[in-house]
Amino acid sequence: MPQSSVLDMSDDLLGAMNQQVANELGASVQYVLVASYFDGRSLPGLARFFHAQAGEERDHAMRFARFVVDSGAQLRIPAIPEQQSDFASASAAVGLALDWEEEVTRQILALVDRARRDRNVVAERFLDWFVNEQHEEVTTMRELLDVVEHAGEDDLLAVEERLAREGMPAGGSSARPA
Ligand SMILES: [Fe+2]
Ligand SMILES: [Fe+2]
Repeated sequence: MPQSSVLDMSDDLLGAMNQQVANELGASVQYVLVASYFDGRSLPGLARFFHAQAGEERDHAMRFARFVVDSGAQLRIPAIPEQQSDFASASAAVGLALDWEEEVTRQILALVDRARRDRNVVAERFLDWFVNEQHEEVTTMRELLDVVEHAGEDDLLAVEERLAREGMPAGGSSARPA
C-alpha cells in the first residue's frame, strides 16, 4: 500500500481527471478528422490549422495523464467515442470544433468545481492553465468560424490566403509556447 501523499486525489477527482485524458484525446481525434476533411477539399491552410490543433489536444491529454501519474495514481483512459468524419460544409466543420471547445471548457470548469469541493488547491492551480487555454481556444475558434462564414462556401480560397498571410487567428497555436 503506497503511503498517502499531499498530492493524493479523491476517487471522484481522479476519475474526472482520467476522463479528461479521454476527452482531450477525443478532441485530438476530432481535429484530425476535421483536418482530413479540409485536406480532402484541397484546402491546406485550414487543414494545417486543424492538424496543429490536434497536436495541441494531444499535449493537453498528456498534461492530465502526467498529473494523474504524479499524484501516485494509476492512469486509466476510458473509451473514446467515435468522432464525426463527414461535414456538410466548411462552416459546419469549424462550427463543430467551436462546439467542442465550448464543451471542453464546461468540462474543465466542472473539474475546477470538483477540486474546490475537495479543497484540493494543487489540482485547482494545475487547472488554472487550462482555464486560460480554453479562453484562448474558444476565442480562436469563434474567430475562425467568423472568417469562414464571412467568406462563404464559394470563397474559401480567401480564407486560405488569409491564413497564409496572417497565420493562425489571434491567440492561435502558433502564438503560444508548447
Ligand atoms: Fe484541450
Ligand atoms: Fe482545444
